[in-house]
Amino acid sequence: MKGICILGATGSIGVSTLDVVARHPDQYKVVALTANGNIDVLYEQCLAHRPEYAVVVTESKAEEFRQRIAASPLAEIKVLAGAEALIEVATLDNVDAVMAAIVGAAGLLPSLAAAKAGKTVLLANKEALVMSGQIFMRAVSDSGAVLLPIDSEHNAIFQCMPAGYTPGHSAKQARRILLTASGGPFRKTPLELLPNMTPDQAVAHPKWDMGRKISVDSATMMNKGLELIEACLLFNMDPDQIQVVIHPQSIIHSMVDYVDGSVLAQMGNPDMRTPIAHAMAWPERFDSGVAPLDIFEVGHMDFEKPDLQRFPCLRLAYEAIKAGGIMPTVLNAANEIAVEAFLNEEVKFTDIAIIIERSMAQFTPDSADSLELVLRADSRARQAAKSVIEGLAA
Ligand SMILES: NC(=O)c1ccc[n+]([C@@H]2O[C@H](COP(=O)([O-])OP(=O)(O)OC[C@H]3O[C@@H](n4cnc5c(N)ncnc54)[C@H](OP(=O)(O)O)[C@@H]3O)[C@@H](O)[C@H]2O)c1
Repeated sequence: MKGICILGATGSIGVSTLDVVARHPDQYKVVALTANGNIDVLYEQCLAHRPEYAVVVTESKAEEFRQRIAASPLAEIKVLAGAEALIEVATLDNVDAVMAAIVGAAGLLPSLAAAKAGKTVLLANKEALVMSGQIFMRAVSDSGAVLLPIDSEHNAIFQCMPAGYTPGHSAKQARRILLTASGGPFRKTPLELLPNMTPDQAVAHPKWDMGRKISVDSATMMNKGLELIEACLLFNMDPDQIQVVIHPQSIIHSMVDYVDGSVLAQMGNPDMRTPIAHAMAWPERFDSGVAPLDIFEVGHMDFEKPDLQRFPCLRLAYEAIKAGGIMPTVLNAANEIAVEAFLNEEVKFTDIAIIIERSMAQFTPDSADSLELVLRADSRARQAAKSVIEGLAA
């Protein structure tokens, strides 16, 4: 029996993880669940899974939640408040696996703490890895933590790697990764209409049901840009060895091209419970609840090269990883600020790339070799992006 802590339990990945956990009560016991402020969903999850700990980051909501728990049949659950509590529950002795599913930079410190504590880290929170790159990978190798990718593409690549492969290392005979992308909701939208796209249109993803931030990232293809950086780190590859491929059906989740000409692909219905169950059962497999793939229903599959004029965020991600140092941190921070401003209807859809590009132009690729340097770059880049937004509004 393994103890699991789910950081970001109330989000899309968190809910899918609990769905998988519920199918395997003989293998997983929920030790801790965390939310930012969605205490209604957290309460229902506590009722169903009876964790030892529940964390609510927003202090005012935590107090309300504490009172609700105290007056319920769940009074034995320990309710903790604040961001520090995320680290506490991610490093508990009886936690074996940590699902890192907080969205954005807020997930960095608890995910990194789990890695440093030698846990099995099930990594969905790509922003944490993108912003802290080498530090995160070093923490994993120093502590002996097991890092398993949850992003469907990286999980697919991991499944296509040779037997015994461990993330962070090169697979010598693998010469290229083909990183698939759906192309998002605006793949065919006339370019002149892109500035008018609304948040509701941007989050209406054609294939995947996800949180709002990653859905906007998919519409700009910054999601693929972050995944490109994630893939370089997880599989120790050069950006030039990674080809982004638009595959609108989202049936192939990525491919690995080997020196002998073999190309291995992992396929399945677009449902995050597959990569989640793969990582949770690894190196075995167990049921995820995902329906079998009906290959006849799929019929055919298409592949296209991404258009960097339509998707400038993908170009910016290539530039950031090639520049190195703090540039991926800057890219990620500026993107988080730009997406938030777009979701709040303060900027246009096409402003997202402009904000990131103008923010990046203010930085040089200085060292990102310590957490202090990363956090400082993150905070300066957020400030730079906010100034760019003010300039756009003026
Ligand atoms: N969804 C997918 O299919 C998918 C696929 C691949 C990778 N990912 C990655 O997985 C991560 C989660 O994505 P998602 O779609 O599940 O996001 P989501 O639905 O927006 O959920 C985000 C989770 O993080 C919590 N959270 C938000 N801000 C926080 C903060 N400041 N401190 C602590 N917790 C906070 C939320 O709590 P509240 O509910 O209380 O706000 C929620 O539990 C992202 O990094 C994303 O890129 C997602």
